[in-house]
Amino acid sequence: MPKSVFISNVLPQAARDLIPKDVSVDYNETDTPLPKTELMTRLRGKDGLICQIVTTVDDEVLAQAPSLRVVANVAVGYNNIDVAAARRRGVVVTNTPDVLTETTADFAWALLMAAARRVVEADHFARSGRWTRWQWDLLWGADVHEKTLGIIGFGRIGRAVARRALGFDMRVLYHDGVRADAATERELRAAPTDLATLLRESDFVTLHTNLTPETHHLIGERTLRTMKRSAVLVNASRGPVVDEAALARALREGGIAAAGLDVFEEEPTIHPDLLPLANVVMAPHIASASRETRLAMATLAVKNCLAVLEGKPPLTPVP
Ligand code: DGY
Repeated sequence: MPKSVFISNVLPQAARDLIPKDVSVDYNETDTPLPKTELMTRLRGKDGLICQIVTTVDDEVLAQAPSLRVVANVAVGYNNIDVAAARRRGVVVTNTPDVLTETTADFAWALLMAAARRVVEADHFARSGRWTRWQWDLLWGADVHEKTLGIIGFGRIGRAVARRALGFDMRVLYHDGVRADAATERELRAAPTDLATLLRESDFVTLHTNLTPETHHLIGERTLRTMKRSAVLVNASRGPVVDEAALARALREGGIAAAGLDVFEEEPTIHPDLLPLANVVMAPHIASASRETRLAMATLAVKNCLAVLEGKPPLTPVP
């Protein structure tokens, strides 16, 4: 039987070209999320789905696609997919780890630096016509070097963020359910710690954890109150790890100094209380969006899908 694949959103041609000609492809070339009913209709009879985080694959969707064997997510995060339901139905779920680690870590640092040194405010000021003379006390920010960096979630991306901190001579604390091995801790000069200590002692707190019921609103009213008033929070993981209403309050009232956010609770909607705040730098979920990395993600997702359809083990199944 010839195989068939549904690509539910735009994917680079170079990645699509990997799909053999005898596999039939239904391709939605837009990046608009499909309504659920259309997703279910187009998935009917398909063997594989290559999708992005805007596509929710829940049990109802899976139930309508009994021939489906693989869901290949073009992302490292996979909270858009009901993995347990997929497993129950014998559907393999894959993601795209590794290929985006360094790019995402670069961007977390971009947010950290921009928030600490007020780069976006400076840009707006420089363009505004209000810059009339050199000013001694203009747009003072916070030093980054030699400060304490707290990393919540010490997987691949968290570790890549820590590696960059070596160049800034920082003290690095990390919090994760799984302790890194001694060699990694030594190499990255990173010390494991409990969450409370990390939040209390860090000048910069950066989130690189999966979204799970345990990490939902991990940063909220209570935890924000334990952070330094001078602290900067960075989130390049998933929006709901942070309670945005509580964060906006803390930023407005001086509970913490600044934030750099790439992800939001209800993307693409941003909490209205965050929008007027100058001390938050925001990006529209682009941490992995370099030309090279987006192509590598797409390529890996296609390879994962094809591997399963050929009866081989996928390259990167979700754990
Ligand atoms: C991921 O890979 O999980 C990103 O958030 C989307 O590119």
